[in-house]
Amino acid sequence: MDRKKEQAVVVSQEMLADGIFSMWLRTEAAQTAGPGQFISMYTNDGSKLLPRPISICEIDKENGRLRVVYRVTGEHTGTEQFSKLKAGDTIPVIGPLGNGFPYEKAEGKRVFLMGGGIGVPPILELAKQMYCAKKQIVVGYRDAQTFLKEEFEKNGELYISTEDGSVGTKGNVMDAIRENGLEADMIFACGPTPMLRAIKAYAEEAGIECYISLEERMACGIGACLACVCKSREKDHHSNVNNKRICKDGPVFLSTEVEI
Ligand code: FES
Repeated sequence: MDRKKEQAVVVSQEMLADGIFSMWLRTEAAQTAGPGQFISMYTNDGSKLLPRPISICEIDKENGRLRVVYRVTGEHTGTEQFSKLKAGDTIPVIGPLGNGFPYEKAEGKRVFLMGGGIGVPPILELAKQMYCAKKQIVVGYRDAQTFLKEEFEKNGELYISTEDGSVGTKGNVMDAIRENGLEADMIFACGPTPMLRAIKAYAEEAGIECYISLEERMACGIGACLACVCKSREKDHHSNVNNKRICKDGPVFLSTEVEI
């Protein structure tokens, strides 16, 4: 379904870690949003025509609010402009976009909810909504700036990896699984491509059903730039080639459906 642009209102904004910001927005998108979906946010100055896709970290339907946690990608970028917004400011957004995680499939299963880097935030709403037999949240950070940690602790068993070893397991999320001897029947993951590649290989070798969100590879989020195309096993029924647009067909895919 094509969605319309609307003016969302900034409710609050704070910095959680170096370059990582959290913003609550009042938006109609909150009514229909689900875990693993995203919104595309536009800058107000008109100089950057394409929006930025930002994943949804929390959904508060009752109050019509969404929380986004995002990384500022550099000076003079759209994300830097977002980080300067204050309560009461407005920002044009489109959403919710994307398919989201099929979290209903987790009922009765032992699950890994895995996030790395700026792929960590969408795991929070997923953890809040998921109903399963064993909820093991495995998240990876660079260093001791483990943003959202307290919120994860309230929503499952939490395991942390850090690249510098300052908190939890030294290494990545796969190292945390091995070090803690964890097991699962199903995996949901979001993060940088090398991390997802390792998780996909692990899941396929062990025969575990695994859903990965490729959202970090998106650029505009609205199907306009084609920067997000990835190879798929099945032919696309429009173009008849083995391609998928991550922003339109995903960002969440069954790991065996895509090549990364
Ligand atoms: Fe631009 Fe998908 S991110 S077309």
